[in-house]
Amino acid sequence: MSIKRVLTGITTTGTPHLGNYVGAIRPAIEASRQPGVESFYFLADYHALIKCDDPARIQRSTLEIAATWVAAGLDPERVTFYRQSDIPEIPELTWLLTCVTGKGLLNRAHAYKAAVDRNEAAGVDPDADVNAGLFMYPVLMGADILMFKAHQVPVGRDQIQHIEMARDMAQRFNHLYGEHLVLPEALIEESVATLPGLDGRKMSKSYDNTIPLFTPPEQMRKLIAGILTDSRAPGEPKEVEGSALFQIYQAFASAEETQALRQAYADGIAWGDAKQLLWERVTREVAPMRATYEDLIAHPERLEDILQAGAAKARKLSTALIADLRQAVGLRRLGSSASPARAAQAEKVSLPSFKQYRENDGRFYFKLQDGQGKLLLQSTGFEAPKAAGQAIAQLKQSPEATLNALQGQWAAADGVSTAQIIAALQSLAEAA
Ligand code: TRP
Repeated sequence: MSIKRVLTGITTTGTPHLGNYVGAIRPAIEASRQPGVESFYFLADYHALIKCDDPARIQRSTLEIAATWVAAGLDPERVTFYRQSDIPEIPELTWLLTCVTGKGLLNRAHAYKAAVDRNEAAGVDPDADVNAGLFMYPVLMGADILMFKAHQVPVGRDQIQHIEMARDMAQRFNHLYGEHLVLPEALIEESVATLPGLDGRKMSKSYDNTIPLFTPPEQMRKLIAGILTDSRAPGEPKEVEGSALFQIYQAFASAEETQALRQAYADGIAWGDAKQLLWERVTREVAPMRATYEDLIAHPERLEDILQAGAAKARKLSTALIADLRQAVGLRRLGSSASPARAAQAEKVSLPSFKQYRENDGRFYFKLQDGQGKLLLQSTGFEAPKAAGQAIAQLKQSPEATLNALQGQWAAADGVSTAQIIAALQSLAEAA
């Protein structure tokens, strides 16, 4: 059986809450116990610096997140659990990737674009208060992923674009320097709940509507009492649909328990009683983890040892890959030369290609395929073969502008991003 590598990072800016636990921590730990899976989990503290300049908060968050994962059952012996900033090869790979990443690709990254859009809406300079870390974020994330040759990256939907960009970087690097990097895929767990927060919106630190996982039980009770409900009185039947309280309960309860609460809603349970049930259920789930958590928080040096051992494991891989990549790009001892095998391998990577053809409707079409023959882009029908030919020539010459200019005359193949098409066209342009 081939081993599948799964990798994910957690940015160290906050305190883990119920939403993180249900949506990320619990499913990740379950997945790490499956046979045939090799898991990498890391504390993304370089990423934290992009949005947080409070050193104490970064350190505290790193401690709390590490303690949470271990308390929730992550087995550091079985998985590779490390802190990003303990792996100096990651910033080094970031630079190698920076040099094969189009600036235009980064201009289109959602996180950066959203900041620019906000500035434009506010009528200030588009780059006001935007640090270059935010701009480079997808490259750092690409390095995190590509460093350990991850096949799958479990992330939320908001991160899909970053995984696609990491694929583009890997493709581009491999195209230029030979097959060194593995193309990762985003893994979106449809079955995993996104938990609503106190106000019914997604539970998130940015909405300030969270319930911290290890908040003391009495504090947890107060927070749960504050969950938004409607104004139905005791005795009145209540809707489970759209009830944040119900959804949070469901994320912790068994099917039978959930069914019982559903019945209680129909029977008109008072909101206060329903909140009591939720508090009991959540505290019951958290209780066995709490002792370990508190113990680790009180003994940071134990976590530090765990992280150092994880870094040593991770660096066996990262130092080996970086040595290969330095050699591949030409950062070499003087007098040494590229191994012939490597040069031959680099040449073998085949280029994308255009195919032109005529359909039964009498019109002229073209499509773009990658080096392995996979369809990337399909045109609509052109009246004349010359028009199709010109479109191809322009696409080769200025990929992005032409894709925009030809809006409506082409479609990306299923699962192919515009960024991938642009990368393919760029590699054609360069080979010409
Ligand atoms: N950017 C991710 C987030 O905000 C965290 C992260 C950093 C990450 N590096 C990663 C996730 C690599 C997966 C893989 O959620």
